[in-house]
Amino acid sequence: MNMKLTLAAVAAAFAVTSASAQDGTVDFEKQILPILKEQCFKCHEKEHEDNGRVKKPKGGLRLDGAAVIMKGGKEYPEENVVAGKPDASWLLKTIALPDTDEMAMPPEGKGDRVSAENQALIKKWIESGASFGAWKGEE
Ligand code: HEC
Repeated sequence: MNMKLTLAAVAAAFAVTSASAQDGTVDFEKQILPILKEQCFKCHEKEHEDNGRVKKPKGGLRLDGAAVIMKGGKEYPEENVVAGKPDASWLLKTIALPDTDEMAMPPEGKGDRVSAENQALIKKWIESGASFGAWKGEE
């Protein structure tokens, strides 16, 4: 059997099913935003009223807009997302911490951990330059 040909066929099939993996880019709005919405927004959104109570973003960190994501929170300003440096980005570091760590996100008992698959996706997004595309979100 011609091994080279077989590998090429496998690679081609993979490219069809996974266009973004092929060119190494991650689409923030399609792939990352839904994770943040589902697992982070309830504590990291713009100040708003909920049932008559004012809810402020926890840790001073908002994740509902491109500019505020880059601005970061109280403890790690400018280091929430460091483009090209996943290891320096607290958004990724906090979700990768063990449940019991006091900085683990979401905090222990306050929501499901971010899946390994989604952590890998966020890592790849940061590594490849943390582009938001046309998305701006809330100011
Ligand atoms: C149930 C509420 C809650 C949820 C859900 C939550 N967080 Fe947090 N987050 C907090 C609190 C409270 C703090 C402040 C902790 C502290 O300073 O000790 C914080 C702080 C942070 C910080 C540090 C900000 C700074 O610079 O001080 C990061 C980064 C963070 N969260 C990321 C996330 C991410 C990413 C998600 C979603 C996967 C998430 N959080 C989900 C409550 C939450």
